Amino acid sequence: MTERFPDGFLWGTATAAHQVEGNNVNSDLWVLENLANTVFAEPSGDAIDHYHRYPDDIALLASLGLNSYRFSVEGARVEPEPGHFSQAALDHYRRMLETCHRHGLQPVVTYHHFTSPRWLISHGGWRSPDTAGRFADYCAKATCGLGDLMTAACTINEVNIPLMIGQWLKHDADNPGQNAFRQEAAQAFGMDKDEVAPFLFAISARERDIILAAHAQSAAAIKAERSDLPVGMTVALGDMQAVAGGEALRDRVRRELQDVFLEAARGDDFIGVQTYTRERYGPQGPLRPEDGVPVTQMGYEVWPEALEMTIRRAVEVTGLPVYVTENGIGTEDDTQRLDYYQRALSGVRRCLSDGIDVRGYFAWSAFDNYEWMRGYGPKFGIIEVDRNTQTRTVKPSARWLGEVARANCLDM
Ligand code: BGC
Repeated sequence: MTERFPDGFLWGTATAAHQVEGNNVNSDLWVLENLANTVFAEPSGDAIDHYHRYPDDIALLASLGLNSYRFSVEGARVEPEPGHFSQAALDHYRRMLETCHRHGLQPVVTYHHFTSPRWLISHGGWRSPDTAGRFADYCAKATCGLGDLMTAACTINEVNIPLMIGQWLKHDADNPGQNAFRQEAAQAFGMDKDEVAPFLFAISARERDIILAAHAQSAAAIKAERSDLPVGMTVALGDMQAVAGGEALRDRVRRELQDVFLEAARGDDFIGVQTYTRERYGPQGPLRPEDGVPVTQMGYEVWPEALEMTIRRAVEVTGLPVYVTENGIGTEDDTQRLDYYQRALSGVRRCLSDGIDVRGYFAWSAFDNYEWMRGYGPKFGIIEVDRNTQTRTVKPSARWLGEVARANCLDM
């Protein structure tokens, strides 16, 4: 059976500046990656040089048949010193946006995707209440220079990821490697170990409230510049399932890590759903994937059906239209990737059939890229990149997704 998608549905891929641009030297993560005691597998370095190669990269994405591209503007480039906004950096992103339009790709722009300017961390980072206003000022400037060319804007990517990282770190708190890393990070930013707060370290409830205030203030700042631009946050949503006896724990964790954020999104124009897998809870805590079950390069279960469930949950809590701003799989096996997309998109189609307002789907990711702490190991791209030569090679999953996009329908 062939199922059509609504007219105007956005079909795209997503990237984040730090993961693809290269040499993001004014960012906090550049500092962290290059410490002697770093917990990052390797530094990002040149990445895939998207900063210079975006014209060819965007043309390639368009040639596949896609009609949209989600990328992030890098705050560390736009505001390299407090209050100094680089016109050259804004011009660069304006050229990227114009290139998207020239190729028929509607640009969806993220203002913060994990990285912050390094100076922001020395000024208290995501632990300082001033950060919400500073972030809103940067968003106002970026929207003033670029907003007329955007289709939709995401303020902060995965507002809830710091709290999720906090959960994982509970099991790692006494790890001497972590301690040495944090100590050295604090020195690099000229502060005490317990004060240093890059976005990904902002794991307390107080910091969560600063992140949510930053979202609210930046959304208002963006609207003040361009009132008709759809604005939302994106949320990392695993499908949280309970096995017998795990319901109470699952509900508690889901409330803390997901629902609080979804509720904060209620006044927005859309909710960005980002889903990779399911997480199962028993009475004692999270359960590992069962023996023999396929897992991705990230170690979690291959479970594309999670997307349908998280879309439904996001809509139940927020009542908002949905963009699937990220969905994908880290694997060397592109046949497995194609199967993952097929199954995930079947779930999106079922949501649409039930009248749920899903407006777009962005595969993570356009290219194999820098997977944060894991370095260049995991392969999420629909386009392979040889980082020695920076040669791009289109994978079969990219051709398949492009054909689905061009036809605006899916064989189910
Ligand atoms: C992030 C991406 C990341 C992807 C795959 C998401 O949490 O937004 O930056 O690369 O997951 O792990």
